[in-house]
Amino acid sequence: MGEQLEAEAERLLPRMVYEYYAGGAGDEATLRDNRAAFVRVKLRPRCLVDVTAPALATTALGQLLAMPVAIAPMAYQRLAHPEGEIATVRAAGRLGIAMTLSTMATASVEEVSGAATAPLWFQLYVWRDRGATKALVERAAAAGAQALVITGDAQRLGTRRRDVDNGFMLPDGLRLGNLEGLGVAAPPPTSEGSQISAHFSLLNDAALCWRDLAWFRSITNLPIVLKGILTAEDARLAAEHGADAVVVSNHGGRQLDGVVATLDALPAIAEAAGDRLEIWMDGGVRSGADVVRALALGARIVLLGRPVLWGLAVGGEDGVAGVLTRLRDEIEEALVLCGCRTPAEVTRAHVL
Ligand code: FNR
Ligand code: LAC
Repeated sequence: MGEQLEAEAERLLPRMVYEYYAGGAGDEATLRDNRAAFVRVKLRPRCLVDVTAPALATTALGQLLAMPVAIAPMAYQRLAHPEGEIATVRAAGRLGIAMTLSTMATASVEEVSGAATAPLWFQLYVWRDRGATKALVERAAAAGAQALVITGDAQRLGTRRRDVDNGFMLPDGLRLGNLEGLGVAAPPPTSEGSQISAHFSLLNDAALCWRDLAWFRSITNLPIVLKGILTAEDARLAAEHGADAVVVSNHGGRQLDGVVATLDALPAIAEAAGDRLEIWMDGGVRSGADVVRALALGARIVLLGRPVLWGLAVGGEDGVAGVLTRLRDEIEEALVLCGCRTPAEVTRAHVL
């Protein structure tokens, strides 16, 4: 989807911002492989099915989505457009899909929730300061977030060489609304290399482990989603520890370079735990046919990442809505031409 849109965003954005959004960790092999995996998987359409009335809606965690797609958590959206996360959540609402708000958003969960007209999910980075972490979870729930998406693949930030080379710094005046009032460290004013990486080192808890899920259960009634699962073993552990869903994700190739492409990791994870929790996936989804491939290999929904940022950079709320509308139209076309009336009718037999 949208190579032209990405090129347009690249033209409009400062180089440092474009490269932060587009880039991955290390040699970016995993970033490329996330895309290549979709190209490797071929569709097997079935003929002569009555597809006069396709219906794209589904549910995730029992919450209605107008299509099997939600917006992935992505930090610092005001770097793309002055309305940032507010524009994104309005576009998600127009299309009837959920948005996942990053802990590192440039608008607070209260502000974003105030503009939401579809489910809002809150992505959590777990800090060493557990009191502040708990206060943030409570704020998100009080603001109306309907799921807690705990990111498990960022004990530290992967080394993104483009950010190091660019000396990535957040511009003055950008507010991280979710961090305010919690007494946690602000981005350090100077750092070697990437400022984001330095900020994460100050905040994030590398000691996060499975037994902490019981603690999260004790502090919130929100459904818990674990993001960053890449193995069947961890999917089983997530189920045993009471997670409601996992996101098969490698953080868009931004954490450990060399890990498996998410579409390749998906089938074994769905097989191991798909009867006990919901399986979501992200990484490299760029078309309606990609969404159908992910459903066929065991995902209930997909999360969409970078294309949302390109839409935001080029056209704010309307730009994001344009990306989502195109994806919706493509999903409908791919379903119909595969001989499926609904997302639920897509099976393992629809791909090779
Ligand atoms: C991310 N991602 C991310 N994940 C997360 O859990 N918390 C976050 O704050 C961020 N921030 C973030 C910023 C940017 C610029 C990008 C590109 C990604 C990862 C994101 O949720 C998702 O896993 C991937 O982006 C999905 O891959 P695609 O669709 O971008 O290929
Ligand atoms: C990133 C962090 C913020 O991927 O999740 O840039």
